[in-house]
Amino acid sequence: MKPKKSIKNLTPYQTSTKTYQYKLDANETNQLLFDDLELSLEVINRYPEVSSQSLRKTLAKTYALDETNLIVGNGTDELLDLLVKTFTNPNETLIAFKPSFSMYKVYAQINNANFIEISLTKTFDFPLNEIDKYKNHNPKIIFLCSPNNPTGTTIKRDKIIDLLVRYPETIIVVDEAYIEFYAEEKSLIKEVTNYSNLVVTRTFSKAYGLAGIRLGYLAAKKSIIMNLLKVKLPYNLNRLSAAIGSQVLVKKETLKAHLELIKKEREKVFNVLHQLKINVIPSKANFLFFQTSYSILKPLQKKGIIIRSFNNNYYRVTIGNSTENTLFCDTLKEVYNERSNLL
Ligand SMILES: Cc1ncc(COP(=O)(O)O)c(C=O)c1O
Repeated sequence: MKPKKSIKNLTPYQTSTKTYQYKLDANETNQLLFDDLELSLEVINRYPEVSSQSLRKTLAKTYALDETNLIVGNGTDELLDLLVKTFTNPNETLIAFKPSFSMYKVYAQINNANFIEISLTKTFDFPLNEIDKYKNHNPKIIFLCSPNNPTGTTIKRDKIIDLLVRYPETIIVVDEAYIEFYAEEKSLIKEVTNYSNLVVTRTFSKAYGLAGIRLGYLAAKKSIIMNLLKVKLPYNLNRLSAAIGSQVLVKKETLKAHLELIKKEREKVFNVLHQLKINVIPSKANFLFFQTSYSILKPLQKKGIIIRSFNNNYYRVTIGNSTENTLFCDTLKEVYNERSNLL
């Protein structure tokens, strides 16, 4: 039985099948931040709320929005796919940048969209003016990721606002999966009531350390949310994840302490890489993107550490706890010392 043509060249999403003691490849948090959650299994015989109203209300309160401005789902992944599925007709143009989050392209392909990728600059900034080259395509969706995965670079708020105004018929998605590691006040989430084409996506997978419960949310003007609600699966979010989301949103002190720790550790790792004269990009997320021509993967793997590799000898390392980061830095120092002794 042949599947639809658009999925012919896709491959299943995969991560390393080997287990590593120090997992610094997926921008997760390495420990359980919230160990005082109260979960009741009594109600799991019943379907959850049909569109997770309670969690949406808590989110609305958190960001001074209305629950009609929010939809929640099985990770941001589900919501990004839902957005493309709901708003894109076959062959309409979607624009993203590269390198950026790889799944935008997959959702575009599955939904038969025409996907255009614009390269970031040499310093990994977003050349937003390049979008104008494709203006005659009437792009349906433009994906911006800030802080960007995998580079950790950001887009200035004014520049995004300018784009929102210049492209009023295009949905501008600002993927803020890592915004907490930058600063909450940099988020555009509260602007969704001011710009009818703005969509902001956020997740519990990164700063909240809850990748395992698959919980993400999307904020936009009511009319966009209404259309997404029409297309989403009836019970897309399970009761347990919804309950956890509502509980952790109010535990602000725990989150704050974790963010401070990660930012301090990020600076520590950045400084070590910089001292080794490695080309490392300043990052506002919980990872660092760097380039080295030395073979570092095997020595790291021998110590039980896994990181992500990209084209042109670029790598992305997640900022872990102090022990993990020190082990990572010491291993790189050893590789560099050995190489300089050989020269
Ligand atoms: C930029 C970006 N957006 C979205 C996601 C997906 O997040 P979620 O776990 O909420 O599906 C990720 C995960 O790595 C990401 O890096």
